[in-house]
Amino acid sequence: MTDNATTASLHERIEQLKKSLNAIILAHNYQRPEVQDIADITGDSLELSRAAARTDHDVIVFCGVHFMAESASILSPDKTVLLPEIDAGCPMADMVTVEGPRKTRRDFYAKTHGISFTYPDEFTLRDMKNKYPGVPIVAYVNTSAAVKAESDICCTSSNVVKVVESLKEDTIICIPDRNLSSFATRRTSKKIIAWDGFCNTHQRVSAEDVKAAKERHPYARVVVHPECPLDVQDMADHITSTSGMLRYCKESKHNEFIIGTEEGLLHRLKAENPDKAFFILSDAMVCPNMKRTKLESVVRAMEGTEHVIKVPEETRIPAKRALDRMLEIT
Ligand code: 13P
Ligand code: SF4
Repeated sequence: MTDNATTASLHERIEQLKKSLNAIILAHNYQRPEVQDIADITGDSLELSRAAARTDHDVIVFCGVHFMAESASILSPDKTVLLPEIDAGCPMADMVTVEGPRKTRRDFYAKTHGISFTYPDEFTLRDMKNKYPGVPIVAYVNTSAAVKAESDICCTSSNVVKVVESLKEDTIICIPDRNLSSFATRRTSKKIIAWDGFCNTHQRVSAEDVKAAKERHPYARVVVHPECPLDVQDMADHITSTSGMLRYCKESKHNEFIIGTEEGLLHRLKAENPDKAFFILSDAMVCPNMKRTKLESVVRAMEGTEHVIKVPEETRIPAKRALDRMLEIT
């Protein structure tokens, strides 16, 4: 069989499984093109959380990373949530824990990104709370269910400023992304205490990459994600979430765009704007965890009802409070 024929037959099998299981497939904007193409809903973290919360299907197949499937389980506890690739995690989410050492790979990042951390690996969210008693915690959805359960409210890249502004306190702790925290700091008068995590995929782009891309495409608008470093944000024409980028590029009168986020977004950008041109800011913008999920993984998980993600009630209830609080105000 040709590759196209294989893809077509996998698509057909997934359609059958969707019917027999009464399943919905949710895919993040960074997924492989062929995976996005079988999804019922493709979106950013906020859109997918909303979709998970309101679905009446029995099974949610989450093509994304672990924290996303956890959020679906938190919001829809009576559904079976499947994560097709069980090892698809988020290194940024692993940079903050409630108990036990966090995963920072600090020697690796010191060498590759020249980046250091403020706190030791043993420093937990509980230590942060003890250091700043009474200061509310805003947790980016890119965190584990256990971390959400210890937080006051969640946020995504599309609503962080609104969430921060919704709190009555003047000082706020934002976890785990230092770059999203810098983005919010610039847009609020509140004092933000930032955790020291970051996204490996977005942290690796630099101001030099923006300069080089602008030289190659002098008429292009530069659109970047708030997970990018601050000097990259400073050179952008627009900073927003993945679905915010889709809206911005569609509505813009410009025809060329340099895109500073994971390359999977270009699939939808190109499909939805066939007359416009999109260029990835750097070829290094690939999230290996987002790319783990293939059509074969989806078929395997659905056929065997494999890789069920279920958040225990004692964690789910406080984590849901933080997610619901965000969903109520945005
Ligand atoms: P959004 O799609 O919500 O902008 O999230 C980006 C991301 O890095 C998800 O892992
Ligand atoms: Fe995590 Fe970054 Fe990958 Fe998103 S792109 S899943 S934040 S590592």
